[in-house]
Amino acid sequence: MALAVFLQELDELARAAVEQFAAAVDGETLESARVAFLGAKQGRLKAAQKQMGNVGPSDRPLAGKRFNEVKQSIESAYAAAQQRLTGGSVRRPPDPTFDATLPGIRPQLGKRHPLTQTMEELKDIMGRLGFTVADGPEVEDERHNFEALNIPREHPARDPLENFYLATAGVGDPDSVFLLRSQTSTVQIRVMEAKRPPIRIISMGRVYRPDTADATHYPMFHQIEGLLVDHRVTMADLKSVLRLFAQTYLGSEVHIRFRPSFFPFTEPSVEVDYQWKDNWIEFGGAGMVDPHVLQAVGYDPEEVTGFAFGLGVERLCMRRHGVTDIREFYKNDVRFLQQF
Ligand code: PHE
Repeated sequence: MALAVFLQELDELARAAVEQFAAAVDGETLESARVAFLGAKQGRLKAAQKQMGNVGPSDRPLAGKRFNEVKQSIESAYAAAQQRLTGGSVRRPPDPTFDATLPGIRPQLGKRHPLTQTMEELKDIMGRLGFTVADGPEVEDERHNFEALNIPREHPARDPLENFYLATAGVGDPDSVFLLRSQTSTVQIRVMEAKRPPIRIISMGRVYRPDTADATHYPMFHQIEGLLVDHRVTMADLKSVLRLFAQTYLGSEVHIRFRPSFFPFTEPSVEVDYQWKDNWIEFGGAGMVDPHVLQAVGYDPEEVTGFAFGLGVERLCMRRHGVTDIREFYKNDVRFLQQF
C-alpha cells in the first residue's frame, strides 16, 4: 500500500471520529461512537493499525508517527465528549443482570464472648461498690497458690492429682515449683504483698483443675474473687456486699444463704448459696480473712480485718441466661454464641 493512500485514510478517519464524538448527544451515542472508532476488536483505529503492515518498510516510520498522532487526537476527542456529557465520570449502560432490590450480603459482626460480657458486668457492679480490678498470673508458684494462703504441704488440695503442676525443676522450693493456678485467691496475696490497707479489690480470670468435663465441670473455668481489708470489717459487710452483688446481677428476688464451711485462708468460712426460683444453688466460698494470712503479708490482725469471697463466673452466667451445660461456653459454636 502506498504511503500517501494510508496517510489519506488516516486523515479521513480522524475527521470522521472527531465529528462523531462532537455530535454525540448522550451516553449511548457516545458509547457507540467509542466502539466504532476505539473498539479493541472491530474499531476503525484498530483496522488502520493493521493496514500499517501493508505500507512499505521504508515508509513505516512516517506511517507510524502519523498513526500515533491520529490515535491521540481521536482519544482526546472522545475524552472531551465524555467530559461534556457526563461531567467527567464514565457512564456505561447499566448492567441488565444487576438487581438492586435483591438482599445484599450482610457483613458478619463479631461480639464479645458471653463470659467476657458477664465479667464486664460484674466488674461494673463491683465498681459501683468501690472495688477496683486487680490481676494476677495464671502460672503461679506454690507460695501464692498455697503457702501464703495457709495451705500447708500435706494438705490434700496440693495433691498432684488435684492440680496442673508444670514440669519444672526445683521441687520442694515453694518459689520455684509452678502450676496453673487452681483459684483466684492467689491475687489476694499478690495485692496484699504490694499494698497497705485499706484494700478493696476484685480479680477475675481463669483457674484450672483436672476435673473431667461434664455439664457442670470443666478443667478450666473462671472465678471472681473479692477482697476487702480495713478497720472493723465484719461478716455483716461480707453478707451485704454479696447480697447486693447477687441482686444486682440476678434480680431483686434472689436471696442469699451462708453455710458453715472450711477454707484454710478464711476463719470463719462459709459456702455461699443463692436462692432463685425455689432452688438453692452454690456459687462459691467466702469468709473472714484468716489472721495467719494477714500476718504472713505483714498486716497487723489486731488492727485490720477483712473478708474474701470467690464465686464461679460460669455459674452466674448460666443461672442468669438459663444455660444448662458449661461446655457450651468453650465449643465456639456461633449458633450458641450469637444468642448473647
Ligand atoms: N478460693 C476458694 C475456691 O476456689 C473460694 C474462696 C475464696 C473461699 C475466698 C474463701 C475466700 O474454692
